[in-house]
Amino acid sequence: MSFPNDFLWGVSTSAFQIEGDIQNDFTEWERLGLFKKSDKEILYNNGIEHWKNWKTDFEFINQIGANSYRFSIEWARIFPGPDKIDYSAILQYEKMIDFLLENNIEPMLTLHHFSNPIWLHEISPWDESSVIQSFCKFSRLIVDKFIDKINLWATFNEPVVWALAAYAAGKFPPAKAKLSQTMDVLYNMMQAHVCIYDYIKAKRPEAQVGIAKHFIVFKESNTFSLFDKGLVNRVNTYFNKIFLDAFKKNELSFHFPPLISYKKKIELNDKIDFWGINYYYRLHVKFRFSIKAPIYIYFKKQQTDMGWEIYPKGLKEIIRLVKPTGKDIYITENGIATQDDILRTKYIYDHVKVVKKELSKGAKIKGYFYWSLFDNYEWLEGKEKRFGLVFVDYQNGNLRKLKSSGKDYKRIIDVVTKM
Ligand code: BGC
Repeated sequence: MSFPNDFLWGVSTSAFQIEGDIQNDFTEWERLGLFKKSDKEILYNNGIEHWKNWKTDFEFINQIGANSYRFSIEWARIFPGPDKIDYSAILQYEKMIDFLLENNIEPMLTLHHFSNPIWLHEISPWDESSVIQSFCKFSRLIVDKFIDKINLWATFNEPVVWALAAYAAGKFPPAKAKLSQTMDVLYNMMQAHVCIYDYIKAKRPEAQVGIAKHFIVFKESNTFSLFDKGLVNRVNTYFNKIFLDAFKKNELSFHFPPLISYKKKIELNDKIDFWGINYYYRLHVKFRFSIKAPIYIYFKKQQTDMGWEIYPKGLKEIIRLVKPTGKDIYITENGIATQDDILRTKYIYDHVKVVKKELSKGAKIKGYFYWSLFDNYEWLEGKEKRFGLVFVDYQNGNLRKLKSSGKDYKRIIDVVTKM
């Protein structure tokens, strides 16, 4: 079996990473000098000014030959205050969505992609259940407005990654540093997911609602070490399997004493239509006899500008992990930060080949989205790391230029579909 005719060949972005002209918890953190950065100064500096340039930006989707676009709506833009709505922002998003539809580009809308309104952490932070109401209020507004235009909804982008960065590693706002707290955060995110799932389905039963989940292949550093193997099992259970299990068992649980011991009922009732797979790399895991730092997780080979290992075979492992859920699968993100565009083309080609193979083995994969359409603001890394199919010249008024890999994307699709 080859790619079905309705397969989505997409490109992915998130609002904050490109839009500019935003005030959210990230810009506030930057203003207050609260980011724990390395030596370099990382400035958001208006993203890539997509809010201003969206129309010409969207022409690139046509040029690349993609038929789908995954993007997010910035909560902080819509709700500058807990009870204050900016309707003009909703209007602009509507124009953007209409443009996509007029150009036969299927939109996939993400409701939460890492950033939050500034007020949220004070009024209803993610580790308190009041956040469910706040997030549902925002989401319902978006659903009311766009339910007739949007069929594909991703409630959350990488909840585990976000919870770890914001509540365990102290890197994203609100920069808490307690691993066990991530469980409460994940619990609330999943409750919020259900709230929006029900709301969307009641309005448009055929709409598809999922979660874009980061998956990583973890490999023991020493294949003969039982300690390394045990550790891989724990890390894999937490990072990759926690939700797959929770949606089946109606229970969010994870045990890794003394760090975490958590078990709580949660009525998820399998309320998810698709799993979005965000896949980038493999990591190695080593157990160390050290009380201070017993877990060592690292890249064995550093092959991209992010220092990540390129491991296309891992995508097969992840697809096979998700397949038994019986849900549809979208590869919602897959990409590489590099200045070497030939390498980027090869990266895409190698991963798309895996998708094709798994499709032929019966996996219900409905689409592939390259991350990212543009070079953009890469969270704690700033703008040096270039994931885009379109180059952004930060020195020259953010001028855009299609990269050779952007031209190759369509060719890859043609070659792989005909193979
Ligand atoms: C995130 C993106 C990010 C990308 C590359 C994913 O984890 O969803 O926002 O830019 O990876 O690091």
